[in-house]
Amino acid sequence: MRTISRCTQSFTLLVIATFVLYFQAKAQSDGAGLYQKFCAQCHGADLSGGNASSLLDGIWQFGAENSYVIRNIKHGIAHLGMPSYERSMTDADIRAVVQYIRDAEADKGVVKPPTPEMVETMDYFIEVETFADDLEVPWSIDFIDPATALITERPGRLRVVKNGVMLPEPVNNTPKVLNEGQGGLLDVAVDPDYAQNGWIYLAYSHVLENQQGDRLPAMTRIVRGKIENHTWIDEELLFEAPPETYNTMRHHYGCRIVFDPWGYLYFAVGDRGRGFQAQDFTLPNGKVHRIHKDGRIPENNPFLYDEKAMKSLFSLGNRNIQGMAIHPGTGELWVTEHGPMGGDELNLIRAGKNYGWETITYGRNYNGTTITELTHIPGMEQPIFYWNPSLAVCGLDFYTGNLFTKWKNRLLVGALKYEEVRLLQIEEERVIHEQVIFKGAGRVRDVATGTDGAIYIVLNNPGKVVRLVPEKE
Ligand code: HEC
Repeated sequence: MRTISRCTQSFTLLVIATFVLYFQAKAQSDGAGLYQKFCAQCHGADLSGGNASSLLDGIWQFGAENSYVIRNIKHGIAHLGMPSYERSMTDADIRAVVQYIRDAEADKGVVKPPTPEMVETMDYFIEVETFADDLEVPWSIDFIDPATALITERPGRLRVVKNGVMLPEPVNNTPKVLNEGQGGLLDVAVDPDYAQNGWIYLAYSHVLENQQGDRLPAMTRIVRGKIENHTWIDEELLFEAPPETYNTMRHHYGCRIVFDPWGYLYFAVGDRGRGFQAQDFTLPNGKVHRIHKDGRIPENNPFLYDEKAMKSLFSLGNRNIQGMAIHPGTGELWVTEHGPMGGDELNLIRAGKNYGWETITYGRNYNGTTITELTHIPGMEQPIFYWNPSLAVCGLDFYTGNLFTKWKNRLLVGALKYEEVRLLQIEEERVIHEQVIFKGAGRVRDVATGTDGAIYIVLNNPGKVVRLVPEKE
């Protein structure tokens, strides 16, 4: 009797196991079937397009990496008519469809189109030159003079491009950074009075080393120093958060550094993965900070009235600023900020204001759940503009050069996910026109007007910098 029951038990287990394996295999192999059922009517039975774009042209307008493709299928792109499959497909189904698309790409030998040598916009034919190549996650570019550019590589290297040639060795002796997740060597900024004082500013992820544990707490830190004989010297610490505010998250560090015409230095610290702390003025994260160029606290900083507040704070409620620029006419600070899904923002930052994160937002969580229903609250600022779905805005600069005269004072907005640069025309405090001027060459990490008037675009992967100039007539 006992043996029989044991026998039945094993048999039942075997049957269950077979079924599990069968369904797993079915889920894995049925990408083609799911595609025909759900996607073919718009993207074409052979994936080459129909009502909606081809999925086999190597062009991913809304993000090329699997994580983005999966997200686009799961949550849809509502305003363009791409449905959300969150309810009708499981995550395994979606992965199977994506695998089916990837296999079809491999069969057809689809390759990502090369960086274009020429792009056409409404106003200009533009030549695209490679300015620097073979970089590892370049994060930021700034210029000492028309012949000398500085580029940060996130793993912790500061590179110099001299007369169009990148020096083979990085600058010696730059600060040790925490190169993990989104952290590392982030922004580089050249002092507006560099010719007189020689200062260069760096932002990076700094780790507390005198602590226990596998993952040491980290936070954004700002220093300045000089470069002599290709070596970083005379370093001064400008901003370091109190050690108890460091945390072990490895994302949302901010950070850009800009200077306004009155000599103030602004930088941003992202929320460090703790959105609720962005409203707490005793903490550095989720905020814009303002200091003097030597690190002193300005006497008119907006939160000095409260003893508990951090004295360097300039604004609150900023999720993760990845673009900062000073308006060439007004001297005011404009920023782009990563929202959660669907809530990337362009903000005009004013002293003491609260930009709402994470109390109000236009975005949702990446898993589709709601963070908050609130988009407006008295006492919290509205963005000047927001992007839904989000482009993953990164890098920001007003065009202030003399080569693209029609674009004077327009705003260049880079985007990681959409792999593009947009040009925004701004009138007072409104965006009145937006056009994509560059796309599809890789994730855009930074955009800058060069001292020579060209537009420089820092591409994350493949790591390089391209230089845009109008085609000669
Ligand atoms: C009702 C029509 C429709 C259906 C059905 C549909 N899509 Fe789409 N899809 C679109 C539209 C419209 C876009 C936006 C781009 C465009 O204009 O083609 C889009 C965009 C996409 C993108 C982003 C492409 C890029 O360039 O980044 C992916 C990925 C995608 N669809 C996959 C799918 C998959 C997989 C299915 C089936 C599960 C599916 N779509 C079903 C209409 C549709």
